[in-house]
Amino acid sequence: MKTKIAVLVSGGGTNLQALIDAQGSVLTSGEIALVVANNANAYALERAKKANIPTAVVLKKQCGSQEAFEEKLKEILTQYGIEVIILAGFMTILTEKFTSCYPRRILNVHPSLIPSFCGEGFYGLRVHEEALKYGVKVTGATVHFVNEIPDGGEIIAQKAVYIEPGDTPEILQRRVMEQAEWILLPQAAEMVCAGLQE
Ligand code: GAR
Repeated sequence: MKTKIAVLVSGGGTNLQALIDAQGSVLTSGEIALVVANNANAYALERAKKANIPTAVVLKKQCGSQEAFEEKLKEILTQYGIEVIILAGFMTILTEKFTSCYPRRILNVHPSLIPSFCGEGFYGLRVHEEALKYGVKVTGATVHFVNEIPDGGEIIAQKAVYIEPGDTPEILQRRVMEQAEWILLPQAAEMVCAGLQE
């Protein structure tokens, strides 16, 4: 039996797409059984529907509190028998109350080499803006386990990407995705799912 994965998303979902495309090749020990968005307009939902993957939308505003939001997430994840959770551009922080329910079973992809340019406030394009502002010559992506510390869980995999002359945050974001995130995330997902089946 394949490990049941839920992918949590907020936006475009290119990392979700990389996971979908990896099913049956790189990703063989797990299957994406559910996609959950915290934003009803996330294009990632369209990608899931095209791949015939069940979707759910959970809005923090509708839940009323962080606690109720996390409870609702847990309820849906349990309903679908989810064993591994992948945060793929999921732009909200989860508290210990949630993360402690899934020790070493929540993965996140972050667009820098942790511990650089990470933690609260560092997400999406902002990460690349800060890397360029600092003037680093190498950046990259990290896949890590998620605990109660934002971007603070154990590192699973990292890949370096060079900064090039003339880079804008948008150009750099794309290069980090192409050269690191879309490759690393399916590989890390496979490693974790395979490990659970041993
Ligand atoms: C990705 O670059 C991901 O690493 C980043 O947001 C982007 C989402 O793109 N995540 C974070 O910054 C989390 N701190 P996608 O929706 O196309 O996968």
